[in-house]
Amino acid sequence: MRTYRVGTFIGSLSSTSINRTLAKALMRAAPDDLEFTEIPIGDLPLYSPDFDDHYPPEATALKEAIGSSDAVLFVTPEYNRSIPGALKNAIDWASRPWGKNSFDHIPAAVIGASPGSIGTAVAQQSLRGVLSYCNARQMTAPEAYITYRAEVFGDDGSVADESTEEFLTDFMGEFRDHLERVLTVLPR
Ligand code: FNR
Repeated sequence: MRTYRVGTFIGSLSSTSINRTLAKALMRAAPDDLEFTEIPIGDLPLYSPDFDDHYPPEATALKEAIGSSDAVLFVTPEYNRSIPGALKNAIDWASRPWGKNSFDHIPAAVIGASPGSIGTAVAQQSLRGVLSYCNARQMTAPEAYITYRAEVFGDDGSVADESTEEFLTDFMGEFRDHLERVLTVLPR
């Protein structure tokens, strides 16, 4: 059985991130042929074109991690109705230097959790616009706006609500099918 390597971006740098907890639940709910590796973003300096000829090691590692992934999954909070600066900075690094955009044709999915009722919907729209420009091949449906409740999500990735668990399982199954379809016509 072929396995697919999924690079995971957690948009939060918080040590108690609810989005990291959501990512654990997604990994647990995912089909067996997906393998996950987190792509760290917290040590990247702020991007500047001045670095384009001499990427720092953290940014080179970022691009290599995306390059060795079959697909990417973004699990992000919403900050002020957009995506966190740390995540945007990582995307900017990965998209450059000009002509070496790491996201070109990569299968991608976005999801996020917030204590609020719209569950990162606005941030995800913002992220989708950025990823469109980067030419990532996004899964458009299902969308997933998770209102986080501490009593539902365990630190070990367990989910104490049957409908939420079913939803996450369906989301990851759809993502698996999406990335396989994309890779069929755009192999990496
Ligand atoms: C927030 N939060 C927030 N929530 C939301 O639903 N919409 C928003 O626009 C914002 N804006 C925002 C800005 C900043 C700077 C912070 C620190 C927080 C609340 C946010 O959803 C909450 O802190 C989550 O716990 C963040 O996710 P992580 O970091 O726990 O994964």
